[in-house]
Amino acid sequence: MTTLSYQTRRGQLQTYFDRTAVEAWARLTSDAPVGRIRTTVRAGRTEMRNTLLSWLPTDMRGMRLLDAGCGTGALAIEAAKRGADVVAIDLSPTLVGLARDRAPRDLGAGSIDFRVGDMLDQSLGRFDYVVAMDSLIHYDARDIVRVVTGIAQRTTTAMLFTFAPRTPALGFMHTIGRLFPRGDRAPSIEPVAESRIAHLLDNEPGIESWRRGRTQRMARGFYISQALELTAQ
Ligand SMILES: C[S@@+](CC[C@H](N)C(=O)[O-])C[C@H]1O[C@@H](n2cnc3c(N)ncnc32)[C@H](O)[C@@H]1O
Repeated sequence: MTTLSYQTRRGQLQTYFDRTAVEAWARLTSDAPVGRIRTTVRAGRTEMRNTLLSWLPTDMRGMRLLDAGCGTGALAIEAAKRGADVVAIDLSPTLVGLARDRAPRDLGAGSIDFRVGDMLDQSLGRFDYVVAMDSLIHYDARDIVRVVTGIAQRTTTAMLFTFAPRTPALGFMHTIGRLFPRGDRAPSIEPVAESRIAHLLDNEPGIESWRRGRTQRMARGFYISQALELTAQ
């Protein structure tokens, strides 16, 4: 069961990532030159992706991984290169199309099943690992925890997700504002304190058997995001 706030935000994000910002996002996630601010965001995002990848096994043969909100697919591709069978899902058909175009044909033992839709879709099946990099940052804290709890029901080993940490700088919010022209501004980012996420996770029914593991805040220029690992006990 999803909340009205989740559904409303999901609709805004689909419009944003499939129409308003799709070109800017395609460029940001490519090798094409970008301005000074976006260069810091790109570097921060690369570091974040590498951090999340470093929390996954190096050999993922025979494992299923969900890239929840895959965007243009960079993480999905790396996981598949490690041998994982990846399901990469995103609300934006355009970004999924780009991800498909960017994926190498030969992924060795791995594979990527690209899907357009909601990461909460139960028909995606069960996973060993789930990664949601910067795809929950626009949802409020309660919805983030509900989504993670929903996905936990179908996950056996670990879930890695990021949130926008509530810091004095709040750099990430400003970033997104400046990344795109005024008319293209993203639906707002929802900064949340780590302690609030922890409190909500501790009190949400259905996720009692999961443990909070590593956490890593990434602040690079205009990019601020924090990764959290949850492991099944
Ligand atoms: C900031 S982008 C990050 C994309 C990718 N994870 C990356 O790091 O490059 C957030 C993505 O999450 C997707 N997204 C947001 N909510 C989603 C949902 N409920 N189900 C699937 N995708 C979602 C958006 O469409 C968008 O492409």
